[in-house]
Amino acid sequence: MRIAVIGGGLMGSGIAEVCARAGVDVTVVESDAERAGRTRAAIERSLDRAVRKGKLTPEDQSTTLERLAVSDSLDDIAGADAAIEAIVEDESAKRMLFKRLDQLLPDAQWLATNTSSVPIMKLAAETSKPDRVIGLHFFNPVPVLPLVEIVRSIMTAPATVDLARTFAEDTLGKQCIDSQDRAGFVVNALLIPYLLSSIRMYESGFASKEDIDQGMVLGCAHPMGPLALADLIGLDTLQAVATSLYDEFRDPASVAPPLLNRMVEAGLLGRKSGRGFYDYTAAAS
Ligand code: CAA
Ligand code: NAD
Repeated sequence: MRIAVIGGGLMGSGIAEVCARAGVDVTVVESDAERAGRTRAAIERSLDRAVRKGKLTPEDQSTTLERLAVSDSLDDIAGADAAIEAIVEDESAKRMLFKRLDQLLPDAQWLATNTSSVPIMKLAAETSKPDRVIGLHFFNPVPVLPLVEIVRSIMTAPATVDLARTFAEDTLGKQCIDSQDRAGFVVNALLIPYLLSSIRMYESGFASKEDIDQGMVLGCAHPMGPLALADLIGLDTLQAVATSLYDEFRDPASVAPPLLNRMVEAGLLGRKSGRGFYDYTAAAS
């Protein structure tokens, strides 16, 4: 089987890695050669870590890398059996891409999106076969977290759901839950208002960022606090998800707080840019 993964950022590189480690041939497409190089380097670093931790043998690392192609041209996905879109959380960019995927992959079994929040029907409507479009929502970090949300639009065919579920569960070894096609699906509809509340709490001076995070780690056994988690997700992605949720439900709890907007404008995007609520530059060097 050959899978096309479009977008090789945090999520696309993680998805490509778990696919290749599961024995699937993968072509990842990034928007330019420099980003394609960064995607390959990120996957190689992650595989090196797995080898160091004894989770992967050096032989399996080599065969995994042989299954992986990284490109800056969408033409290279021709002939793929299925596709997973993982580009930036921008509805219009995703709509344009689905129009292209529909033309480039007329015979693909299914076209999936890893969107955090955009309703699947909005993307399926750009294609000639909306019945083969589905949401497969992976969680960050993809090699670690077992969940995939399966999101069917009102047009997704039952056969598409079966094929995509079999891929996620049997091929990749993930565990799936089903969600209706509503912005944010199950997990982000619950998680994002919580993260936005923590930013409002910090912004208002109610508590320090360290105390907010420690409170949820020590008091509720979360693996990390909400501000550290916002940095892990990426503040641009968090802002975009908040916007989709607000567009759909008009719930004030989903409005992006001014501090989040200012941080995104300043390029403080969290771990991926080196600084968000916390500074990661020392850890990276
Ligand atoms: N890739 C691969 N493996 C990774 C990894 C990565 N990026 N980050 C951590 N790991 C592995 C480590 O190798 C380690 O493995 P072992 O236990 O086998 O040694 C394990 O994960 C734990 O890592 P660390 O000891 O380095 O650090 P930690 O214990 O602090 O865990 C964490 C880090 C996995 C990120 C953990 O803090 C965690 O699970 N946090 C919550 C993450 C979360 O909530 N994600 C969901 C975000 S929301 C989302 O994804 C949806 C959306 O649409 C926005
Ligand atoms: P990211 O910013 O790390 O990566 C996005 C990548 O997409 C960038 O590398 C960019 O160059 C690339 N890109 C943009 N337009 C492209 C195009 N037309 N063709 C090819 N590549 C293109 O973002 P991410 O965190 O990897 O998020 C990707 C998707 O996954 C988003 O829809 C996001 O909402 C979703 N998601 C994110 C998380 C998370 O925790 N970050 C979790 C689950 C789902």
